[in-house]
Amino acid sequence: MKAMKVAVIGTGYVGITTGVTLAYIGHQVTCVDVDLKKLALLRSGKAHIYEPGLEELMHLSRERLKFTDAYAEAVPDADVIFVAVGTPSAPDGSPDLRYVQAAAEGIGQHLNSKFTVIVNKSTVPIGSGNWVESLVQSAYEAKNGKKAKGNFAVASNPEFLREGSAIYDSLYPDRIVVGAEREEALETLYNLYRPLIEQSFPEPAFQPRPNAMKAVPLISADLASAELIKYAANAFLSVKISFINEIAALAERVGADVTQIARGIGLDSRIGPRFLQAGIGWGGSCFGKDTAALVSTAKEYGLSMPIVQAAREVNYRQRERIVEKLQRELKILKGRTIGLLGLAFKPNTDDLRDSPALDIAQRLIKQGVKVRVHDPIALEQAREQNPDLAVEYCQNVMDLAEDADAVVLVTDWAVYRDLDWEGMARLMKKPLVVDGRNFLDKRRLEKAGFQHVGVGTGT
Ligand code: NAD
Ligand code: UGA
Repeated sequence: MKAMKVAVIGTGYVGITTGVTLAYIGHQVTCVDVDLKKLALLRSGKAHIYEPGLEELMHLSRERLKFTDAYAEAVPDADVIFVAVGTPSAPDGSPDLRYVQAAAEGIGQHLNSKFTVIVNKSTVPIGSGNWVESLVQSAYEAKNGKKAKGNFAVASNPEFLREGSAIYDSLYPDRIVVGAEREEALETLYNLYRPLIEQSFPEPAFQPRPNAMKAVPLISADLASAELIKYAANAFLSVKISFINEIAALAERVGADVTQIARGIGLDSRIGPRFLQAGIGWGGSCFGKDTAALVSTAKEYGLSMPIVQAAREVNYRQRERIVEKLQRELKILKGRTIGLLGLAFKPNTDDLRDSPALDIAQRLIKQGVKVRVHDPIALEQAREQNPDLAVEYCQNVMDLAEDADAVVLVTDWAVYRDLDWEGMARLMKKPLVVDGRNFLDKRRLEKAGFQHVGVGTGT
């Protein structure tokens, strides 16, 4: 394999994972960020996010990894430049592209005459490839007084990693999607990803290759299709979750059990078992913003997306359902003390973006509830990021349980399954647990003295 020079702009969840993975498979990678604190941490070999295996892979790849805030140190030499900056939602649901714009302009100012592929890895709306090309071109022209002729091409390479298993997903992806109009760009990306496609890199001891792993399919598409694949994938997964949550609501009314239903339909290979876990619904940085962006893009083109729109409504309704369940059991919420187990939007990450727990906390506070929260990893981060949130942060689940009227399992962290539930039951006013992820062992909890209330499980 020919090692390439790679620049990655933005070292967030996606940027750092991309940079470290590409360095691990043999490329020379320079990661650029504007956040000096993140860079200092990364230079010292520490990750700024909690992601299993990330620091270990960084360590194994350290000789091929550099971190800088200077585009001039990364862009001019690069064969491939990834744009991996954030694309948050604007208030109207459309993606806010200001960081992509700044990155494209920074790249255009520092490109030289060698051929470079600029890759949108950020999730960006259809047409962004062309837009980035024009931004790079204008910045190049402003700096050099002439047009950049043929020395760069823009491609799309959407990212499908899940937080909490980012390293696993990057080393062993289900597929790699690349979109471009120019053949050289597709060829360059094929060569870049070759060790991943052929799975020819040594498996790291802490992240072994799955037994059934074969060559990774590379999907070459046109730019617009690659851009739309990303939104369609996230929207489909969101719809799947909301669908099972809708079934869960009916299951609850008729005394059926949604976990049995999910198994019963999921074993049909046309449906598949994954993403059929009913519960509080999705949170996180992407499903919410990407479904909003898809609806907003469709609107721009005179279409509506009723299925995606409905999935959003069902999802955010799930959070209110938890409050309703508590109200049903406790009758009066005002003056109660309720503990929330888990703040991160899913286990194995410290990401609090669109965290269902923070949303539920706010809804409970509005009802006059005293809210306590616990998370194995994200507690301090939650405190820092939400200085005005009037909750009690508990380092210890026993402090959370003491004299509480109920606890709610919000995030399915593995450690919560094996808590000292007997001890907690003894400390609580009323041992009631609302299991928002149908994650706990109901029988064990009942033996410990708890009333266990699930989602769509007939209780
Ligand atoms: P993030 O907010 O964690 O990271 C973005 C980084 O870009 C930050 O470190 C920020 O300081 C940096 N940045 C901003 N402007 C910059 C600039 N002009 N130059 C250099 N650096 C700059 O975002 P993320 O979660 O990694 O997401 C990045 C993109 O990837 C988004 O479009 C997102 O939708 C997409 N995505 C995210 C995930 C995920 O799991 N987080 C998965 C797939 C795709
Ligand atoms: C999701 C996608 O799975 C990734 O492929 C994609 O790259 C990423 O979004 C992105 O674009 O950012 P992520 O949000 O990290 O990844 O995590 P998921 O495992 O998809 O979980 C998302 C949310 O859905 C979590 O809150 C999780 O608890 C919830 N979920 C998931 C359910 O409620 N039920 C399920 O069956 C599965």
